[in-house]
Amino acid sequence: MPALSDFSLASAVTAPSVGHPLTPAGTRLRSDPSGTRATIRLMPVNITVLNHGPIRIEGDFQILDPAGAAFGLAGRTTISLCRCGHSANKPFCDGSHARAGFSDAVAARDLPPPKPKS
Ligand code: FES
Repeated sequence: MPALSDFSLASAVTAPSVGHPLTPAGTRLRSDPSGTRATIRLMPVNITVLNHGPIRIEGDFQILDPAGAAFGLAGRTTISLCRCGHSANKPFCDGSHARAGFSDAVAARDLPPPKPKS
């Protein structure tokens, strides 16, 4: 069995389907009726900046600390990150934005092109 770092799409497609240890983050394996083959379905991640509140992330994702360690999310597929700075549980929202009167309405807009890297 290949190591996780050796994972490839080809091995995923033929991997056993249920609870396979080679399933990378951001994918779902679904078995065919025989249970002998699996199909990878990449799950989109949606990030929504809420008016006067947190940044909500939905889908299959990981949240990493600066050292690259993943937060244990206990299977959550939706989580909110604080953007007001008042949460006692940063980086996660704990609802303090409402008590603090955080106010920032959001509307999507286009950003300018990135500056060329020197
Ligand atoms: S956005 Fe909710 S506590 Fe900061």
